[in-house]
Amino acid sequence: MRFGVTVKYYIKTFGCQMNVYDSKRIADMLQNMGYQSVDAPADADLILFNTCHIREKAAEKLFSDLGRMEIIKNERKERGLETIIGVAGCVVQAENEQIATRAPYVNFATGPLTYHRIPEILARIARQKDICVIDTDFPAESKFDFLPENKSVGGCSYLAIQEGCNNFCTYCIVPYTRGVETSRPVDDILQEAKNLVATNTLEINLLGQNVNSYHGEGSDGKEKNLAYLLNKLSEIEGLKRIRYTTSYPADMSDELIACHKNLKKLMPYLHLPLQSGSDKILKAMNRRHTSGQYLEIVEKLKDANPEIGLSSDFIVGFPGETDEDFNATMEMVKKVNYIQAFSFKYSRRAGTPAAVYEHQVEEKIKQQRLKILQDDLFSRQLNFNKECVGKIMPVLFESKGKKTGEIFGRTPYMQTLVAKGGADDINKIKNVIITFGGMNALAGTIKEEA
Ligand code: 5AD
Ligand code: SF4
Repeated sequence: MRFGVTVKYYIKTFGCQMNVYDSKRIADMLQNMGYQSVDAPADADLILFNTCHIREKAAEKLFSDLGRMEIIKNERKERGLETIIGVAGCVVQAENEQIATRAPYVNFATGPLTYHRIPEILARIARQKDICVIDTDFPAESKFDFLPENKSVGGCSYLAIQEGCNNFCTYCIVPYTRGVETSRPVDDILQEAKNLVATNTLEINLLGQNVNSYHGEGSDGKEKNLAYLLNKLSEIEGLKRIRYTTSYPADMSDELIACHKNLKKLMPYLHLPLQSGSDKILKAMNRRHTSGQYLEIVEKLKDANPEIGLSSDFIVGFPGETDEDFNATMEMVKKVNYIQAFSFKYSRRAGTPAAVYEHQVEEKIKQQRLKILQDDLFSRQLNFNKECVGKIMPVLFESKGKKTGEIFGRTPYMQTLVAKGGADDINKIKNVIITFGGMNALAGTIKEEA
C-alpha cells in the first residue's frame, strides 16, 4: 500500500446477521487502522468478501464473483494501483484448499474465528508481496478479546454473545465452519452493550448460531444462562429494546420463556426454527425436538406473552421427505400461524451426513413443495400485516426512505415501516398509527415520541 495515502477498503457481505456483525467488526478494525470505506470495489485498495456457506452453490458463486475482482485488480494495476483481495467467512473455512489454486490473485483468506488477525496478515503481505496467506485454524484465543470497541452505527445494533454450534443437524455446515459452541463472558457483553447505548443504540439484537444455549461465565466465575443475561441487560438505562436470535427449540427453558412475560424491553417476536413438521424428518435431521414438543413451547410462549409473534426456518425436500411428511409441515404452519418465515429447498453440503443419505428428493418436487409452503407463509404474513392497520406501534426509525421525506423503521415485530419524516426522526422510537399493511412493509403516521 502507498505510504502517506489513505487506504480505501470495500467489504461485501453475504449471508446471515452474524456475517453482517462480523463485517462491521472487521470494518471497525480497518477504520481504527486509518482505512476509509468506499462503495465501489474499483475504488478500493483492499477488497474483502465475507462469505456464507449455509445454502446454495456458495463456492461456485464466490469464484465467479472473485473472477470479476481479478479484472478490477488488473485494471487498477494498469493505472499503477495495487489491490489486495481478501476472503473471509464460512466458505473459506470449508473450501480453503481450493482458494489458493482456483484464485491465485487472492492475497489472503481467513475463517470466521480468525478475522481479528487481518491487521497482522496485511502487515505480512506488505512485507512479502505476492504471498497468499490462508489462516483458518480454529484459534485458541477468542477474537472478541482482540477486536476494537463495537461502535453504534445507529439506533439498532447487533451484539454477538455466542458462536458455533454443537447440535450437528445433519444438513448443516455451521458446526464445521464456526466450530464448537462458545459463549462470551457476561461482563464483556454488558460492557459492549453499555458502550453501544452510550453511543446512541436504543435496540440490541443478541446474536448467536444457537443463542439460547448461551452459557457464559458470570463475574462470580459461575456459568450464567441467557435468561440471566437478558435480566442484566434490561437493567441498562437508555436501552429500550432487546431481541435475541437464533434460538434452538430444545433450549427454550421455562426461565427463558418467563423473560417474555417479565421483561418489558424484550420484543414480542421470536425466531424459532422448526425446519420440518414431521417427527420422522426431524429425527433424520438430528433435531432434539418433536413437533409436539415444539407446540408445547409455543403454547408456553403465548401464555407468557399473548402478543408474541413467531417466525421460523423451514427446509423442504430433505432426503426421505414424503408427501405425508410435507403435509405435516403444512399442518404445523397452520397451528402456529407464523407471522413471518424463511423457507428453503434442501441443498447438499459436502461433509454433512445428509449429503450422502439415500432417497434424495427430486428437484421438481422440492420446487413444488417450496411454492405451496411459501404461498401459505406469505398469505399469513400479509394477513398479519393487514391486521396491524389501525393499531399504534412504537417504531424505531433507522434510515431515510427511498423517496424524499420518507423514513424507514422497524416495528416490535421486525416489520419494515415507512412513514413521512425527516432526519430528526431517525434513531428515535416514535408511536406510529398503522395506516397500511402490505406483504413486505407497513405504512404509518407518526403520532409522537414513544
Ligand atoms: N439446505 C437448505 N437449507 C439449509 N439451512 C441450513 N442448512 C441448509 C441446507 N443444507 C437453513 C436452515 C437454517 C437456515 C439458517 O438455513 O433452515 O435454519
Ligand atoms: Fe445448524 Fe442445527 Fe446448529 Fe442451527 S442448530 S446452526 S441448523 S447445526
